[in-house]
Amino acid sequence: MSPDTEVGSNIIKPKTIYLKDYAPAPYKASHINLVFELFEDKTIVRSEVLYIKNPDGNSSTLILNGQDQTILSVEIDGVAFTGYMLADNQITINEAGEKFTLTITSEIHPETNTALEGLYKSQGTYCTQCEAEGFRRITYFQDRPDVLSIFSVRIEADKSKYPVLLSNGNLVESGELANGRHFTAWNDPFPKPCYLFALVAGDLVRIEDTFKTMSGRNVDLHIYVRSGDEGQCDHAMQSLKKSMQWDEEKYGREYELDLFNIVAVSDFNMGAMENTSLNIFNTKLVLAHQETATDTDFMSVEGVIAHEYFHNWTGNRVTCRDWFQLSLKEGLTVFRDHEFSADMNSRSVQRIDDVDHLRRFQFSEDASPLAHAVQPDNFIEISNFYTMTVYEKGSELIRMQQTLLGEDTYRKATDLYFDRYDGHAVTCDDFVQCMADASGRDMSQFFLWYKQAGTPSLIASSQYDEEQKQFTLTLKQSQADTPGQTNKKPLLIPVAVGLLNEQGIETHPTQVLEMTEREQSFTFDNVKTRPVPSILRGFSAPVKLTTDLSDDNLRLLQLSDTDGFNKWEAGQTIALRTIERVMADSEVDISQFIDDIGIMIQQGLNNKGDKALLARALSLPAIAVIAQTQDVIDPAAIDSARTHILKAIKRTHKDALLRLYKDNLSMGEFSISPEAMGRRSLKNTVLELLTVTNGSGCAALAKAHYDHADNMTDRVAALACLSDSTQPEREEVFTDFYHRFKDYQLVVDKWFSLQAIANRDEIFDDFAKLRNHAEFNIKNPNRVRSLYSAFAINNPVKFHDPSGQGYAILRDAIIELNAINPQIAARQVTPFREWKRYTPELQAKMKDALQAIMDSGNLSSDVFEVVSKSLN
Ligand code: PHE
Ligand code: ZN
Repeated sequence: MSPDTEVGSNIIKPKTIYLKDYAPAPYKASHINLVFELFEDKTIVRSEVLYIKNPDGNSSTLILNGQDQTILSVEIDGVAFTGYMLADNQITINEAGEKFTLTITSEIHPETNTALEGLYKSQGTYCTQCEAEGFRRITYFQDRPDVLSIFSVRIEADKSKYPVLLSNGNLVESGELANGRHFTAWNDPFPKPCYLFALVAGDLVRIEDTFKTMSGRNVDLHIYVRSGDEGQCDHAMQSLKKSMQWDEEKYGREYELDLFNIVAVSDFNMGAMENTSLNIFNTKLVLAHQETATDTDFMSVEGVIAHEYFHNWTGNRVTCRDWFQLSLKEGLTVFRDHEFSADMNSRSVQRIDDVDHLRRFQFSEDASPLAHAVQPDNFIEISNFYTMTVYEKGSELIRMQQTLLGEDTYRKATDLYFDRYDGHAVTCDDFVQCMADASGRDMSQFFLWYKQAGTPSLIASSQYDEEQKQFTLTLKQSQADTPGQTNKKPLLIPVAVGLLNEQGIETHPTQVLEMTEREQSFTFDNVKTRPVPSILRGFSAPVKLTTDLSDDNLRLLQLSDTDGFNKWEAGQTIALRTIERVMADSEVDISQFIDDIGIMIQQGLNNKGDKALLARALSLPAIAVIAQTQDVIDPAAIDSARTHILKAIKRTHKDALLRLYKDNLSMGEFSISPEAMGRRSLKNTVLELLTVTNGSGCAALAKAHYDHADNMTDRVAALACLSDSTQPEREEVFTDFYHRFKDYQLVVDKWFSLQAIANRDEIFDDFAKLRNHAEFNIKNPNRVRSLYSAFAINNPVKFHDPSGQGYAILRDAIIELNAINPQIAARQVTPFREWKRYTPELQAKMKDALQAIMDSGNLSSDVFEVVSKSLN
């Protein structure tokens, strides 16, 4: 069924919006004055806007978007006005005139808003979420990112309940009102689109610090949290200061206001939001303490704090013309935060983890019916386009541009971009044009990366000419058809290549080959002996690479490559090949692979090399990564091959692994330095190998690990090792964990997740209990993700149980969530969208689940879009 088909007589078909239909806004709204009166049972919003006809526009019809609000009055230039039409969530005023002030007063209900868009309440705190189209739930306005306005905001509320009243920009006034109420007034001097508007009112405590900018100005930094959480904010504050410093050094970007606020709330659809000078965060990405947060959490907090801060320039000062340009700000900002994290921690580890993430989630999106371009050309619901493709693949496109231009020219190009477009709403094309102008290169072929969906495949074959001492690498590219796109053109692919000789010594350092044709050969001279090429170093392009390298070639790269990423990649390729062999024949001889693992364990015992890298080298690819290499996905078969190999590793190397485990136990003082994190990562990876058989010895070891833990990383590792177990220690440890941390919502989330991922027969009964647990709350997105996403994404074997019980769980949750929070409901559809790639039995059951959702009636446009496109 196409998304444009009518699905029932009383259902209005959601409308598709096209990039080609873009037209400039008919009116400018250079100033907006907002007054909020917050009451327990309603909120009154008054907006006063001076509209001036846009000389670049081609219409004199003013259209204002508005949703879920009751209009109390409308005035033009101070006189009551009734000459507007109100229909389909829009106010339309025909022949509206050249210049006039429109004042609209309306009533909204944040206290019953469960969609968490617009103004809503999270545990007693009022907060807003306006991106992408939430502002229309606050007041009638041209809710589109190319309308930039200076915002003045006044907030009135009860003083004892809501002592903190915040909005964007600078505080200009505050004072007392009658009846125990008070007010604050804010002004943000920089014009911004309404999706960056924010308001917070609550009873919060604040942590303070300052940052001195490169021109010597002091910026006050405030982080607001609920009382009791202030001890978990230090890492976020340090991360913010490091981000500000890094953006000055790497991009020459200085923060311009005197105040930067971060507010953490418990109910949030996404990770965080970059509202100008008033970032609003999911608590999960602010709070971090060794007792309650894992190393992964610490890294995420650092990365997301940076991400939102970096948006100040890439997103806010220079913003998007329309939502098809979302990657303009998101791809670029993700690239910036990845590079920041690489500079703060270990570059190789960061790259490995980022690519692993891309492969798991973006490659699968690109292989699904929801595949779309980084710059899509149509959508029904923009909330569905905050995707891995727009974010993560978008970031890879920026990385490739930096690779092609070189770091210095790339910096000149970004300087040009900020210079040219500060205060403007622009397109991805405008960004790439700056790359072209600064470098003198023609970037038109490169731009196809933004327009063509699907992961390109790259096949490399090598030829050595003994006589000429020449080595030739032949590359072939192709890009499969995706919905609405066939016969794709060849891309400009930067392929970073180095050569090693048979002794593992690098003879030819990294060169970036620029591939522009479907098939192309590159010749290296002065190659004295048959080399081993290290291809696509640092993962220089987001493609699926197949090479003709032998297992021995890969082993050489794994031991000797100078490129940290490709060293790891070589080992993963060998592991994937081994898993394939076991899947084809469970009796196949894998002793060579197991011996190689022994060599790595020995290196660890000799304290050679980086521990974090060793931990990753000792990990087999996840089921989701293996699945991407399969024609037909059978999660149970992948899991049993994978487990077969893990058990062989344990059987063969048990003693050495135990020694490696003990060598890395050392406690000392807790630290989140890359070394300390690397040690924990290695120790916990080894623990996982040692407990893979789930016997009584495994449970005892995991329990001891838990009992000795002085931090959340180790505790979670122990719980993960016990999750599949049926030994008594499982219950003991999970119970202790719950009681110890029940006052910490984010840790209770982990408690739900670690049970939802259990690959054991009891899972379906356990799941029902967890769903009915007093602490489960379907209105809280973090809780929903901790139970349902953990199950559907991280428990592939049970989610894809042949009985279909796993699918039924998710189906019912989506139908229930559709009425509560459409954005979260639509996200939960993700594990179903690749249904056509599974075995025929699983396919049929997944399809039934999707169809049942489709038929359940009253679908939000969010859920309608992803389900109908998945079924296509
Ligand atoms: N713009 C936010 C970010 O990437 C993400 C977001 C989108 C948050 C929509 C809320 C709603 O940083
Ligand atoms: Zn972002």
